Amino acid sequence: MTASRNIYQCIKAEITEVIDESPTIKSFVLRPEREFEFKTGQFVELTLDGFGEAPFTPSSSPLEKEEIQITVMRAGYVTEKIHQLKPGVIMGIRGPYGRGYPLDKFFDKEVLVLGGGCGFAPLRSLLYNLKAEEDKIKKLVFCYGSKTPAECIYKPYINELRQVKKFEVYRSVDRPDETWTEEVGVVTNLLDKIAINVDDSVAVVCGPPVMMKFGTLKLLEMGYPEDNIYLSMEKNMSCGLGKCGHCMMGKYFVCKDGPVFSYDEVKDQPDIWQ
Ligand SMILES: Cc1cc2nc3c(=O)[nH]c(=O)nc-3n(C[C@H](O)[C@H](O)[C@H](O)COP(=O)(O)OP(=O)(O)OC[C@H]3O[C@@H](n4cnc5c(N)ncnc54)[C@H](O)[C@@H]3O)c2cc1C
Ligand code: FES
Repeated sequence: MTASRNIYQCIKAEITEVIDESPTIKSFVLRPEREFEFKTGQFVELTLDGFGEAPFTPSSSPLEKEEIQITVMRAGYVTEKIHQLKPGVIMGIRGPYGRGYPLDKFFDKEVLVLGGGCGFAPLRSLLYNLKAEEDKIKKLVFCYGSKTPAECIYKPYINELRQVKKFEVYRSVDRPDETWTEEVGVVTNLLDKIAINVDDSVAVVCGPPVMMKFGTLKLLEMGYPEDNIYLSMEKNMSCGLGKCGHCMMGKYFVCKDGPVFSYDEVKDQPDIWQ
């Protein structure tokens, strides 16, 4: 008789670097004990012994298998503890779980990526992936918004993105300071300024619920078909494996059927913006 595999088993991963991204957001570079593979948009459960676990979408390139980056916004008990960790600490990772971004649907198209706040984390992984497949897309327009300049994350990476030939990058903040030279206002305002061929484009949205809602409504107003808008949904999760039911959204287990959904798949489900 073969012993059944423990589906909750983690692999060990050492924190090798901690990067301060904003006053409330840090990125953790982790080196797993063995190669770790995921598809962009899938998530992992990160465990801190004695404190608990929480789901996160890796923010690093899915093409990098020896290191993984997780960007964590301080939200409550577990994330507060994670923020206190230093290089050398061993964490647990299990996963990857769920359905990521359907990259094949993005090829031969113009891709519009709309991000807000810590929603840049999964989007960065997508941008790394699309940069590596640059020849397969027509162009990419990235619109990112945060409350203040201090809360804009991945500043060095933004500079890198601006060097990519097929990528255009626009940023906006709600409350500027004297150093800010880019747009001011809610991130959806950026959509009035960009040039994109909606009929030949797919859109991706990730950010806080209110931004996801108004971002999606704006995209619909621009003429995007419901099945060409991809949303990365966040619901409270526990098992990550379709067993506990914590993440139910109508007929879907967000952990298993998502977290990436097209808008037409979820639009009639209850509480999609909560
Ligand atoms: C698929 C998925 C991917 C995610 N990716 C990231 C990521 O890359 N970076 C990141 O910083 N966060 C991400 N999150 C959110 C992150 O999991 C929560 O912030 C975290 O679980 C909060 O745990 P806590 O113990 O610190 O907070 P708690 O003490 O449990 O709660 C603090 C507050 O956060 C809210 N909250 C708790 N869990 C969630 C949740 N899953 N989603 C939204 N709000 C929640 C609670 O309602 C409460 O208001 C993701 C969530 C999901 C489901
Ligand atoms: S988190 Fe347990 S079923 Fe989805």
